[in-house]
Amino acid sequence: MRPMRQFTVSRLPELLFGEGRLFELPAVLRRMGVSAVALVTGGRSFRDSENRERLLAALREAGIRVAEFSVRGEPSPEEVDGIAAELKGSPGPRVDGVAAVGGGSAIDAAKAVSALLTMEGSVADYLEGVGSRVPPGTRLPLVAAPTTAGTGTEATKNAVISRVGEGGFKKSLRHDNFIPDAAILDPLLTLSCPPEVTAASGLDAVTQLLEAFTSPRGSPFTDAMALDALRIAGDAFPRVCRDGGDREARAGMAYAAYVSGVCLAHAGLGVVHGIASPLGGMFHIPHGLICGTLVAEASRFTIGRAMRIDDPSGGSVLKKYARAGRALSGREAGSDFGDAALLINTLEALVERARLPRLGALGLTEEDARRVADKTAAPNHPVPLSPDDVFDILRRRI
Ligand SMILES: [Fe+2]
Repeated sequence: MRPMRQFTVSRLPELLFGEGRLFELPAVLRRMGVSAVALVTGGRSFRDSENRERLLAALREAGIRVAEFSVRGEPSPEEVDGIAAELKGSPGPRVDGVAAVGGGSAIDAAKAVSALLTMEGSVADYLEGVGSRVPPGTRLPLVAAPTTAGTGTEATKNAVISRVGEGGFKKSLRHDNFIPDAAILDPLLTLSCPPEVTAASGLDAVTQLLEAFTSPRGSPFTDAMALDALRIAGDAFPRVCRDGGDREARAGMAYAAYVSGVCLAHAGLGVVHGIASPLGGMFHIPHGLICGTLVAEASRFTIGRAMRIDDPSGGSVLKKYARAGRALSGREAGSDFGDAALLINTLEALVERARLPRLGALGLTEEDARRVADKTAAPNHPVPLSPDDVFDILRRRI
């Protein structure tokens, strides 16, 4: 056994996993003492579904008042400020809790609103690298029920807020206390997730698991969680791409995504997410698509680098990628190098199956790639990367 370094496991959200559990939301809110909830939902699929009517009826029956908001796309500071201002300014009883039923964007918006309702000013004032104020960590009770399986934001301590375009950014509102109180993983909610969102968000989860697993900040706790979830995702992801109605595979991806959130909140992420931050601020490209299109290439580059550098810990970086390769592929090649190669091949096959476009097809030029590379920070990547290295990874996916 290797000597164990210090590590901390933060509070995890209470987890309600299983089909139909969305309708336990009123009971969960009641238990938290919530009597008026701001319900943030995402795109159309949930709002048009019978689940919405059923949920609203259940909330009414439990005596919980509802103020409903919907968020389209990744939330901007103006959107979050607008919801908070409307809630603060509305007559009648104040909401005393926030719930999200939607994709990562809806959950991030809800997370930010739950904090902003207890703070002064604009959410932009508190964003890392944008504002000058530090969030005090106060928020209203918060429950998240994801309708996509990907970001894992139902388990993380940050909300990503973005402004896209010239001078754009994609930054986090972050505090340990922003981890939601409860996550409801009801795989039935993900059945209506469209194929392109299923593919991109699933690869985001796989990327997060791999980057947290290979992070130097990982611990025996995150390693065990991430490795098992990679094994589950390796089986479930091709299945949900093939058949969106495969309930067992949908459940697998919902769990893998939640675990990816737990792991990234503890271990951090690598260069793919380092790139996704400036790239997502410059271009309107969904986060999962950026991660998915880059993960195989970034892994190939890193494994190549890990094999060349003199690694005093006996090839531990390569060994990590090899273990991930065995978990994700469900196979063994008989050597660390072979298993690391299996990882790259499996990731490439997943990206192929997901039919993700290359960055060039999304409008990225070499000049843009250079600007993104210069702005990329990846302090938790397992090998050090220069801006030229990052540019190399990007260039190969243009
Ligand atoms: Fe991500």
